[in-house]
Amino acid sequence: RQMALRVHDQIDSTNSDITRRWQEGERGLLVSVADSQQQGRGRRGRVWQSPAGQNLYMSVGISMNRGFTELDGLSLVAGLALLEALADKGLANPALKWPNDLLVDGKKLAGILIELQGELEGAVRVIVGIGVNVHMLEAESVDQPWTSLDLSAPEADWRRDDLAASVLNRLLGHLSVFEASGFGPFAEPWNRYDAFRGRKLVATSGNLSGVGEGVDESGNYMISTDSSVERIYAGEISLRVA
Ligand code: BTN
Repeated sequence: RQMALRVHDQIDSTNSDITRRWQEGERGLLVSVADSQQQGRGRRGRVWQSPAGQNLYMSVGISMNRGFTELDGLSLVAGLALLEALADKGLANPALKWPNDLLVDGKKLAGILIELQGELEGAVRVIVGIGVNVHMLEAESVDQPWTSLDLSAPEADWRRDDLAASVLNRLLGHLSVFEASGFGPFAEPWNRYDAFRGRKLVATSGNLSGVGEGVDESGNYMISTDSSVERIYAGEISLRVA
């Protein structure tokens, strides 16, 4: 695939940059990276703190030939690609919190925001936005325990350009497998890093609790209750340790 990469000192959000580039008529694989974001977005309408000189903010815009429903697994695949790229470079004990937070020692290191842009010529346009805390040593008003690569693995060399290249390589490799075969091939590797496995969980909606059993072949999260195995669909509800 042909790839067009843009690097910005400042941008509102790299995800928004991909949307604008599509609107301006750019086609093919689009990648936007920024040193800082003024309106970095997290999941569920949260703000993603995006100071300059610190972290990796990267978005990939891609057209995929799969139906919308199957795209749920995409956020899991993106999280796995990110984790593998970081583990390769020396990050020890990374874990995935379903659907796609990357944790180290229970603290959030990276997050992924997937946005769908609708169909064009039969393909679904997807934006995979990735934020990784790299050099950040302190932050104001982050509403959950967090860490960074420099804090979690200080002995490794975490250059942001190297990181961006490795993450992108992993992601593009995994996306082509996903496009051809769906989530199935990723269930087993994903479950190796499951932060919830064997733990007692409750859904934030409050009416479901049980023990974490990992993801199934479609990427749904399984919880065993006293009487059954319940499946939770991506984005439907969120889980926390009881
Ligand atoms: C989350 O865990 O809530 C998702 C965070 C995603 C942050 C990245 S940074 C690059 C891209 N641009 C954004 O505005 N958000 C994503």
